[in-house]
Amino acid sequence: MAHRPFITYFIVYLTIHKISTKQPHILLIVADDYGFHDIGYHNRDFQTPNLDKLALGGVRLENYYVQPICTPTRSQLLSGRYQLKEAGYSTHAVGKWHLGFYKDDYIPTNRGFDSFFGFLTGGETYYTHYLCYDNKCGTDMRDMTHPTDAYNGTYSTTLFAEKAIDVINNHDEDKPLFLYVPFQAVHAPMEVPEKYMEPYRHINDKFRRMVACMDEAVGNITEAMTKRGFWDDTVLVFTTDNGGEIAAGGNNYPLRGWKHSLWDGGMHAVGFVHSKLIGSQMTGSATMELMHVTDWFPTLVKLAKGNLNGTKPLDGFDQWATISWIPPPEYGLPVRDAHEQTTGLNAKNLWLFNIMKDPTEQHDMSETEPGIVTKMLDKLRDYQKSAVPCVYPKPDPRSDPAKLGGFWGPWE
Ligand SMILES: *[C@@H]1O[C@H](CO)[C@@H](O)[C@H](O)[C@H]1NC(C)=O
Ligand SMILES: *[C@@H]1O[C@H](CO)[C@@H](O)[C@H](O)[C@H]1NC(C)=O
Repeated sequence: MAHRPFITYFIVYLTIHKISTKQPHILLIVADDYGFHDIGYHNRDFQTPNLDKLALGGVRLENYYVQPICTPTRSQLLSGRYQLKEAGYSTHAVGKWHLGFYKDDYIPTNRGFDSFFGFLTGGETYYTHYLCYDNKCGTDMRDMTHPTDAYNGTYSTTLFAEKAIDVINNHDEDKPLFLYVPFQAVHAPMEVPEKYMEPYRHINDKFRRMVACMDEAVGNITEAMTKRGFWDDTVLVFTTDNGGEIAAGGNNYPLRGWKHSLWDGGMHAVGFVHSKLIGSQMTGSATMELMHVTDWFPTLVKLAKGNLNGTKPLDGFDQWATISWIPPPEYGLPVRDAHEQTTGLNAKNLWLFNIMKDPTEQHDMSETEPGIVTKMLDKLRDYQKSAVPCVYPKPDPRSDPAKLGGFWGPWE
């Protein structure tokens, strides 16, 4: 920040002034297992016209990181969502929860959301909404707190778009809206309606069709907001939860790695922000400023004029100034045609890469730069001192849907 020219500060002042008059609507869309190379503006072979239009008319976050698997990203995204409710927002979640549900206290409507429609687990079938896990099988779809099988046969991406549009159409326009739409798409299994075949007749790739359907869903949701006159006052954040699952259609090229991995392909994420509240000189740009998924919470709460005082210490930072006012840098990852992914693992467990100069992690510098390695390991040790160990409880037999009317849901 110290070296930015005076003009930046001047503009920051103007924006803050502009947004301070009103609490914006916030539309937070999460795609599941959506890879770096699975979007039109990173890969010409993908047809995502709605996402491209929003991204290219917004700010693309090209140095943006998430966690390598779903739940850590989702929890970091939402920790303390109560803060938005306190700021007077009407808060709604439509889609995948995956943030715990063993007792009622943990379901979305008890975690700061006025309404919830969706599923609680991490993944299931797209039409029958069915999951077998640890030899236990059940349906997972919920309208508010009630499990339901009324949507058996309805494809989830379309269903969630429709439910999100219902929320928009029923929203009281005097209140700011926080709408969280974590799609099931484009997580495995690869299931998609035939109609999305069209742009991809030449290849037998269900994954791209799932992406096409999600793209259409995003278009429908934004159109509904436009129809109600909300769009000009909306901040849209689009993010993946982790890198693409290359065993299930995803692709992170040119980044190395996949979902679950700590290579950049697992964590260096697709994300962008679109909003009329972003100054015109930033619209259509890409920023290489480092951002992390933990930053959304303080960024959005600040935009919402919520209060961060009551939260536990936060790891993230308010990044609104970064998103709205930093001039686009020259550097960016090249847009290229689909290509073989770099894979391969060996016994080595320590590497050092200069991510800015070597974004595909090809040149290990750990032997030539031992000083940097030591410094980073010291930092890691420091973080680990305050880290809380992960808890992986044994499967609880009481969770079996067979004992819960055939549905996944709270059992305690
Ligand atoms: C959903 O529909 C399918 C196909 O009609 C049927 O086989 C399945 O049993 C249904 N699932 C539930 C949970 O009702
Ligand atoms: C988008 O809206 C159109 C028109 O209502 C509808 O036919 C289509 O199924 C919707 N797509 C999705 C993915 O919801």
